[in-house]
Amino acid sequence: MPETIEDFCVSRADLRQTSWLESEVPVLEPDQLLLEIDCFALTANNITYAVAGERMSYWNFFPTEAGLGRVPVWGFANVVESAHSEVAVGERVYGYFPMSSHLVILAGRVKDRSLIDASGHRSKLPGVYNQYLRVTDDPTHEPSGEAMQMLFRPLFMTSFILDDFLTDNERFGADNVILTSASSKTSLGLAFLLHANLDCQVIGLTSQSNRNFVEALGCYHTVLSYEQIGTLARSPSVIVDMAGNGGVLAAVHDHLDEALRYSCLVGATHWEARHGSQGMAGPKPELFFAPTHIQKRNEDWGPGGVEARFSDAWERFTSVVGDWITIRNVMGRNGVEKTYAQMLNGQVSPDIGYILSVRET
Ligand SMILES: NC(=O)c1ccc[n+]([C@@H]2O[C@H](COP(=O)([O-])OP(=O)(O)OC[C@H]3O[C@@H](n4cnc5c(N)ncnc54)[C@H](OP(=O)(O)O)[C@@H]3O)[C@@H](O)[C@H]2O)c1
Repeated sequence: MPETIEDFCVSRADLRQTSWLESEVPVLEPDQLLLEIDCFALTANNITYAVAGERMSYWNFFPTEAGLGRVPVWGFANVVESAHSEVAVGERVYGYFPMSSHLVILAGRVKDRSLIDASGHRSKLPGVYNQYLRVTDDPTHEPSGEAMQMLFRPLFMTSFILDDFLTDNERFGADNVILTSASSKTSLGLAFLLHANLDCQVIGLTSQSNRNFVEALGCYHTVLSYEQIGTLARSPSVIVDMAGNGGVLAAVHDHLDEALRYSCLVGATHWEARHGSQGMAGPKPELFFAPTHIQKRNEDWGPGGVEARFSDAWERFTSVVGDWITIRNVMGRNGVEKTYAQMLNGQVSPDIGYILSVRET
């Protein structure tokens, strides 16, 4: 049994200030589980959770001391203590965790393949984040696929829904789809799916330093650096903005003007450059909200329809993405701190997938 729980915390007011909090392992109440967080992925998406922590309630999943936040991540954990009759010590679960050594959850709605954290502070938060998959007896679970699952699966769901949203809207009459932060995992997933459409030109915008990586993947027809936006063809286009960089977005809007048929805001990888897009030409950017489109498709396709199509797309994607990314495992407090700082500062090579663990060995 662990002696203490270690939490990596960031200052909500200044994401560069970090600290560790230690607390005693509590005595479990009925139906609670003590989970030892084995490993988790860290990508720019987690930084976006922190940037939007207040506005989108991401800080509310794992409360801590006033003024501090615990950044949510996707990972695997093992049950090391159980006060629930249907959940055994030794079970492994996949889901949403803080960057910590352990997490206590209140097991609820326990089914063969899943359970939820029914803790009061999570009850009003979106259900998808409260669910934990019980993978120990799941015949489809492959331990060798865990790293790709943590790194890509939550992001690829967004890629999949975005691809379907564009298809459902006949790409707003455009053949060109422009993706910013083309090197990001969410963009790679979307580019992979869009590339399968013969009538669609997939154009990636990325930093000059990431251009070679993106070009070599083959899922974009054209790859340009942000400095080359002025060379974009003025043909009917849609932009899917993963960077959230006001200057980049305004440059694309102003260059394409009426040729830009739809502007979709998804991410904010360039989180320190979000301002500067006021008064630009072209259509008003629309914030993408995946649950709205999932709801539509649940109605169109019926129960299990989205899941079946997603599984099919995920299988195709995982057959190629392993060649694009090298997994880097980082263990211990120092490694977690350093990798978080690099991710925050955009000093991470896009061909590396970081899998972290607070434990030292
Ligand atoms: N709304 C939704 O439902 C939803 C769902 C999933 C993801 N997203 C968003 O999509 C974005 C991509 O997430 P991801 O996890 O796929 O990213 P990722 O793979 O970690 O992306 C890494 C890339 O992002 C850019 N980048 C990262 N940090 C940066 C920094 N500090 N300064 C400048 N550029 C930086 C660089 O790309 P370039 O050089 O190519 O710009 C870098 O190669 C995130 O903002 C995420 O929140 C939104």
